[in-house]
Amino acid sequence: MDKFKIEGGRRLEGTVKISGAKNAALPAMAASLLTREPVHLQNIPHVRDIITMAKLLAHMRCHVESPDIPPSEFTMQAENVSHAEAPYDLVRTMRASILTLGPLVARFGHARVSLPGGCAIGARPIDLHVQALEALGASISVDHGYVEARAEGLRGRTFRFPKITVTGTENVLMAAVLAEGETILENCALEPEIADLAELLVKMGAKIEGAGGPTIRVQGVSELHGATHRIIPDRIEAGTFLLAGAITGGELALTACQPAHLGALVSTLRQCGVEITCEPSGTVHLRGAKRLTSADVTTAEYPGFPTDMQAQFMALATQAQGVSRIRETIFENRYLHAVEMMRMGACIALAGNLAVVTGPTPLSGAPVTASDLRASAGLVLAALVASNTTWIDRVYHIDRGYEQIERKLRAVGARIERVTGRPE
Ligand code: UD1
Repeated sequence: MDKFKIEGGRRLEGTVKISGAKNAALPAMAASLLTREPVHLQNIPHVRDIITMAKLLAHMRCHVESPDIPPSEFTMQAENVSHAEAPYDLVRTMRASILTLGPLVARFGHARVSLPGGCAIGARPIDLHVQALEALGASISVDHGYVEARAEGLRGRTFRFPKITVTGTENVLMAAVLAEGETILENCALEPEIADLAELLVKMGAKIEGAGGPTIRVQGVSELHGATHRIIPDRIEAGTFLLAGAITGGELALTACQPAHLGALVSTLRQCGVEITCEPSGTVHLRGAKRLTSADVTTAEYPGFPTDMQAQFMALATQAQGVSRIRETIFENRYLHAVEMMRMGACIALAGNLAVVTGPTPLSGAPVTASDLRASAGLVLAALVASNTTWIDRVYHIDRGYEQIERKLRAVGARIERVTGRPE
């Protein structure tokens, strides 16, 4: 199992190119199931979740092809899907496999997707995906660990999500585009990945208004066609590099970003004393603070502070002067990284969904274990400022969502290596 070996204490300086957004690419790939024609996607990040989604589509006999190695473009053609099933082996490694449920039932009238099961950051149910698809006329049963959906043609109607869900909104939007008549989805997620998916679907011939806002209106069409689409930049990868620059007191330029998607994080970093300027061309410049100051954050749905940046911000808070209060409101049990950071010397008190971080405290390198994708990124940031060597175990979590993170960090001065085997 791969580990990272990180020698802390280096100030990061230079330029980092941000990759395409994993969380926008995954639903876009699933959307290719909605048509028999080819869907061509560009700016796909080379990360494990994308490989898993490609395997899942191939398992369904969707033709998946890429012209380059590593792949940054994919063409998918779901002409002959003979196997509308997402098996447990693939779903258990990637919860977003559930995104195939909506497109499959809408186009083929049948889908079988393994239940995602538990996960390190809480229970993460899919009841809202199910409720919304039932509202469009699907019959759904759960048997032997699989969700099975059947429909003889979905019918549009109004559905209000009782709670905001990102992949839930995407799944149901993909089903609604082929439903008969009008669907109105209320209390939808506002994340930029939803608007990006809608843009692709419209290129494929769907009739959608309001995506990116709380109410989405869809006029169903009988079939969709092929399209070419470029995936938006990854705001979580960009945010992670901003925090890497800030925690090391460095100076970074991030290119190929979408600064408009980074609002909550940028204003928090400015509060901490970090200088950030954004160019309309998509480059974000960061100059670290002489002395970081604490800030309070509460995770929230977009445009609030992203839960996917909480672990990385916690690492920064350990180096900021004063008390930072972090409140996690999206997922339960998302503080596994805090315990590891405490082992490195951080002063963190946990009480339910509240983490109180008192800083600055010197961190010292230690062997630590990554527990989920973003927690691992938080540990990498902590290691960048820790004395001596930090070994991070189970970095397969980070490989799920960050493209070549160690190479990108090394290129701006970090001492980080990927090592196979145990530390001596
Ligand atoms: C997506 C992102 C993930 C991010 C999360 C929140 C992808 C592939 N993943 O995950 O990186 O951390 O949004 O920004 O885009 N919930 C229910 N029932 C449901 C669905 C969700 O109760 O049917 C709850 C969840 O347990 C959670 C909250 O709603 O408490 C938000 O989850 P959701 O927005 O669905 O997260 P994901 O779409 O899984």
